[in-house]
Amino acid sequence: MIITVTLNAAIDKTLIVPNFQPGRRHRTVEQGTLPGGKGVNVARTLKRLGVPVIATGFQGGPTGTRIVEALTDEQVLSDFVRIREESRTNTALLDPTNGVQTEINERGPQVTEAEVEHFRSKLLYLASGAAIVIFAGSLPRGVDPGLYGELIRDLRSTGVTVAVDAEGEVLNLASRGGPTLVTPNRREAEELVGYEFSGDADEELIEALAAVRRLGPAEALITLPDGCAAALKHGTGIKVHRARIPQREAVAPIGSGDAFLAGFLAARYQGRSDGDALRYAVACGADSTQRLGAGVVDPDEVARLSDMVELAELESDPATA
Ligand SMILES: Nc1ncnc2c1ncn2[C@@H]1O[C@H](COP(=O)(O)OP(=O)(O)OP(=O)(O)O)[C@@H](O)[C@H]1O
Ligand SMILES: [Mg+2]
Repeated sequence: MIITVTLNAAIDKTLIVPNFQPGRRHRTVEQGTLPGGKGVNVARTLKRLGVPVIATGFQGGPTGTRIVEALTDEQVLSDFVRIREESRTNTALLDPTNGVQTEINERGPQVTEAEVEHFRSKLLYLASGAAIVIFAGSLPRGVDPGLYGELIRDLRSTGVTVAVDAEGEVLNLASRGGPTLVTPNRREAEELVGYEFSGDADEELIEALAAVRRLGPAEALITLPDGCAAALKHGTGIKVHRARIPQREAVAPIGSGDAFLAGFLAARYQGRSDGDALRYAVACGADSTQRLGAGVVDPDEVARLSDMVELAELESDPATA
């Protein structure tokens, strides 16, 4: 079983509006809503890939009830802590004439200390029966930015694999908790290590991955527009891989990182090799850009795209783990 944690779960509303211009009145030509928040998106991808998953986190008010009901409709199991304030609705406005997406995210609920403690117990209970726990996305108001880091320390004794997809201070503090792996995109990785990459030269990626790992994560994956770079455990050492896929014009770019993370951990869960897991992850990211709805992938297409991913080994250091 894989557990996904979404402390800022939401209803994501997507409006398709051709020729969108601020200040004008528009009609949608198409619209849809899906439960969202990064961890929920990851759970959706895992479910579609056929991997057993439970989505947890916070939900509150009528919007929270809707999140849970909509997940049930998608046959995604969930076990959220019910909070007093209402979960948020996030609106994305997509203009199909130019592919530009505008997002408006609500501020979201304030979470109390008692609600956080309730969640901590639930997570420890769920994790005792899980192989992997994934923390993904931002934290709600009222929650200490170090919460992921704390929860990761709590989980240590269980031996569960822990993955984190977050950014800024939350990712920095989570990394210091020593998770199994983190999956920042390029911008998030630059912020984490504290300097901008000048290009995507192999040496620079190798150094950036090492800098991320020095903060605490055992393994690091940096997603790039054309694939990823990854420093993964290999025996007692570390192997650095680069995966590439031809870039395609995105229909809906949001959530490609969530699909990437789900793909990687789905393959790991199934005991596949690191090379296969990287191919599968990049294929999931690429396929999700072709579909409306964050985390939506087609497993047949993912399998086909996996064969198109080129893999290279950049470095193998038996002594650096
Ligand atoms: N246009 C594209 N064509 C092919 N693959 C893509 C495209 N955009 C993204 N991907 C793939 O998806 C994966 C994740 O990409 P990206 O770095 O954009 O994630 P992200 O910024 O974390 O996205 P988000 O946070 O919105 O989910 C990468 O492996 C990348 O190769
Ligand atoms: Mg991301």
